[in-house]
Amino acid sequence: MSNSKNVAAVVLVGGQGTRLRPLTLSAPKPMLPTAGVPFLTHLLSRIRQAGIRNVVLGTSYRAATFSDYFGDGAAFGLELEYVVETEPLGTGGAIRNVLDHISADDVMVFNGDILSGVDLTALLAAHRRKRADVTLHLVKVDDPRAFGCVPTDDDNRVQAFLEKTNAPPTDQINAGTYVFRRDVIAGIAAGRVVSVERETFPGLLAGGARLFGHLDSTYWLDLGTPAAFVKGSADLVRGLAPTDALPGPVADSLLLPGAVADTSAVIGGGTAVGRGARIEATAQVDGSIVFDDARIGAGSVVRRSVIGRGAVVEDGAVICDAVVGDGAVIGAGCELLAGIRVWPGVTIAPAGIRFSA
Ligand code: GTP
Repeated sequence: MSNSKNVAAVVLVGGQGTRLRPLTLSAPKPMLPTAGVPFLTHLLSRIRQAGIRNVVLGTSYRAATFSDYFGDGAAFGLELEYVVETEPLGTGGAIRNVLDHISADDVMVFNGDILSGVDLTALLAAHRRKRADVTLHLVKVDDPRAFGCVPTDDDNRVQAFLEKTNAPPTDQINAGTYVFRRDVIAGIAAGRVVSVERETFPGLLAGGARLFGHLDSTYWLDLGTPAAFVKGSADLVRGLAPTDALPGPVADSLLLPGAVADTSAVIGGGTAVGRGARIEATAQVDGSIVFDDARIGAGSVVRRSVIGRGAVVEDGAVICDAVVGDGAVIGAGCELLAGIRVWPGVTIAPAGIRFSA
């Protein structure tokens, strides 16, 4: 990246990940296994690829899990620092809170749950070319209503911030990656909860700051929900989403060392199978994530689902669009569909829950 010395990265990873419960009860969302490694590893690999070395993680919820795994970052080719919020400060408050740990003039800020192919070098170049205060990565989506809508003018200058509106004037949305001038961060109120989307950006706009959008609609996915989380992992495994951290070749499935699958099992659609997990005879596992030490019994069907660490799916069960918590046991012949979530350690008796008659 041009002049990569004068840019640092901040990754916001302090959220509770409530939409991904119960998976996020034991690990923060960015630490959940995604295509074989904690999701954050993929994001950090792209930051490193862009030539950025200094990365500050803004943590809060289960903060130690990050430093325990990533340490000083040297093993990942990075210099990592951690700034812990004892009380979560919100996205804007978290950015303000890391200011003392940054000396670079330009600061790239990442929501820690976005899987994106945005060209970071081009994003930074656009920011510098426009002499912007903040440049936001924007993507076009089919249904912008659930996102922050960001209309821009012919010069790419931001005209408004419309959070989750029913009548969005454009399909361009805030994609959760920004470049800030360092002094703009200094202007955010310190020591209190601030939302960058709801307070900082609208405030800057009202004050006449130079806010620009950078449209890049290559791969983009917010991994906040279980459906998006399994899709993101499967896309990484199949090489549809960019990463430099896949722990194996791009393929239709990824089995980590120590995973065992019967030769008659059919595993595909980008399924990732963790260490020590077992997939038994004729089981079909498609587009799913099977965490370490889980067991998928003979003849069972698992589609677009997450099977937690050490969980057991007994023979002939059907699990579609579901989340099975760590250590849960799904009895033989059960049928779990359509967004159902089983809490960790729960045991469901054989044929104890079915969808169909
Ligand atoms: P939900 O509870 O399911 O909405 O997930 P979340 O807690 O991750 O919230 P959201 O998806 O809105 O957050 C976007 C990104 O900002 C995520 O990477 C969060 O980890 C991060 N984040 C949200 N709130 C805070 C905070 O108060 N402090 C820090 N450091 N990061 C935050």
